[in-house]
Amino acid sequence: MSVHVQNSRMTTAKIRQMKANGEKIAMLTGYDYTLASLTDEAGIDMILVGDSASNVVCGNQYTLPITVDEMIFLTKGVVRAAQHALVVCDMPFGSYQISEEEAVRNAVKILKESGCDAVKLEGGEEILPAIRHMIQAGVPVMGHLGLTPQSVNQFGGYGLRAKEDAEAEKLIHDARLLDQAGCFSIVLEKIPAALAEKVTKAVSCPVIGIGAGAGCDGQVLVLHDMLGLNQGFKPKFLRHFASLAGEVKNAVGEYINTVKDGSFPSAEESY
Ligand code: KIV
Repeated sequence: MSVHVQNSRMTTAKIRQMKANGEKIAMLTGYDYTLASLTDEAGIDMILVGDSASNVVCGNQYTLPITVDEMIFLTKGVVRAAQHALVVCDMPFGSYQISEEEAVRNAVKILKESGCDAVKLEGGEEILPAIRHMIQAGVPVMGHLGLTPQSVNQFGGYGLRAKEDAEAEKLIHDARLLDQAGCFSIVLEKIPAALAEKVTKAVSCPVIGIGAGAGCDGQVLVLHDMLGLNQGFKPKFLRHFASLAGEVKNAVGEYINTVKDGSFPSAEESY
């Protein structure tokens, strides 16, 4: 029996090839079937089921509380939606830092149970052994350097990272190690644009930026932020490509009014 695999589906090899071709890579986060379907139909290259789900879906202040099983639950819906995009699932805090064995076990569980194509992990040299073991086990890995929100308690906030030379040097060193270990791409979050451009040129794998300037191979944003669903959050790097918060509130307000004044449902909307 042969299984039909759609050849329009993105693969990690195609994502790498895009860098080689000088083609920019567009990634957005996704957390549910409906919005991920629209994002996929619009032609996005990669959908990241970010642990930012802890913030935008669950309402937590930090990304730390979300669990492996919660990430798998969300990722399953996104995988069902993605006909074209490569789906990457964030490994949550605590799922890869304890031991290499546990990291591989959790990565394999995420791939098997969610059906996603790859996982993303935050950190450099410290987590290199775990990354190497995952890649050896056949798990495609995306790295994440710069502002790594799972380390918020160490950083003491979400400010710009790698402003000082020592941190910038370590970041370049870490990016080279991730690249050599076989990561198929690396996210750089909230670092100076000049540094991100330097890293992008220094590594062979595609670099995806968020708050890291235009010199990266691609960009990622949190879907709810770029759609303007989260009115209270407007850092310098974020562009609102829509203002859906107002539209949602207007629609809900109109629904409430028509229910209260008895004009919904009408005779045409009744059986
Ligand atoms: O969790 C997330 O949404 C992310 C992106 C901001 C890169 O890691």
